[in-house]
Amino acid sequence: MAADADTLDIAPLSGPALEVALDDLARLRIAVFREYPYLYDGTPDYEARYLDRFAKAKDGIIVVARDADRVVGCATGSALSAHHQQFAAPFLDAGYDIDSIFYCGESVLLREYRGRGLGHAFFDRREAHAKERGYRFSTFSSVVRPPDHPLRPTNYRPLDSFWQKRGYRKAEGLVTTFSWKDIDREAESGHPMQFWIRELAA
Ligand SMILES: CC(C)(COP(=O)(O)OP(=O)(O)OC[C@H]1O[C@@H](n2cnc3c(N)ncnc32)[C@H](O)[C@@H]1OP(=O)(O)O)[C@@H](O)C(=O)NCCC(=O)NCCS
Repeated sequence: MAADADTLDIAPLSGPALEVALDDLARLRIAVFREYPYLYDGTPDYEARYLDRFAKAKDGIIVVARDADRVVGCATGSALSAHHQQFAAPFLDAGYDIDSIFYCGESVLLREYRGRGLGHAFFDRREAHAKERGYRFSTFSSVVRPPDHPLRPTNYRPLDSFWQKRGYRKAEGLVTTFSWKDIDREAESGHPMQFWIRELAA
């Protein structure tokens, strides 16, 4: 059961405060990303390393939502150029200036805290951070699953309308592949990831 809104706190963490929260954040990401459409079979060690890298990346930010002392959500972001080549390659091919693009990594929130505006707050914080640092575009990627995927819950609602309302559009042809192990697979496999993009207001 979620607590009252006045016990909720949302803030970027860094340094020692982030160090203390890393294990909780890793657990949170593993729990939320096991759900459809990610179906990600994560490990705490990998997650802790991933988050630490994000925190240290150029213009990196980790926004953390806490209910009293409990970590209930987080969102990441950094310069697109700080990531693997497979992130930047589609943008380079499409003629973008990579240094003008901020990458919103992911947003995760425990189910009982959804629907009260934290998803918007995660974007607000990261987009403001990107604008302050002079970025022109904000982007993120989303996994593409076939509509008849056997693990798709019957009540699943895609987040597309939320993202469109935030000013993002699917960037036609900007698709890359990330590999991870799905919960129903024995080994890692490649997953198509669609980029979404918006221009940040001046
Ligand atoms: C993405 C996520 C953090 C959004 O959190 P949230 O706190 O529920 O978002 P908000 O309350 O700010 O709602 C955002 C909007 O999306 C809508 N929305 C919320 N849940 C939705 C859902 N399951 N499907 C479609 N729209 C949804 C809300 O109605 C709201 O619309 P509004 O602005 O018209 O009111 C959360 O849904 C989540 O953790 N999902 C699982 C992980 C994930 O898929 N992350 C995104 C890719 S990394």
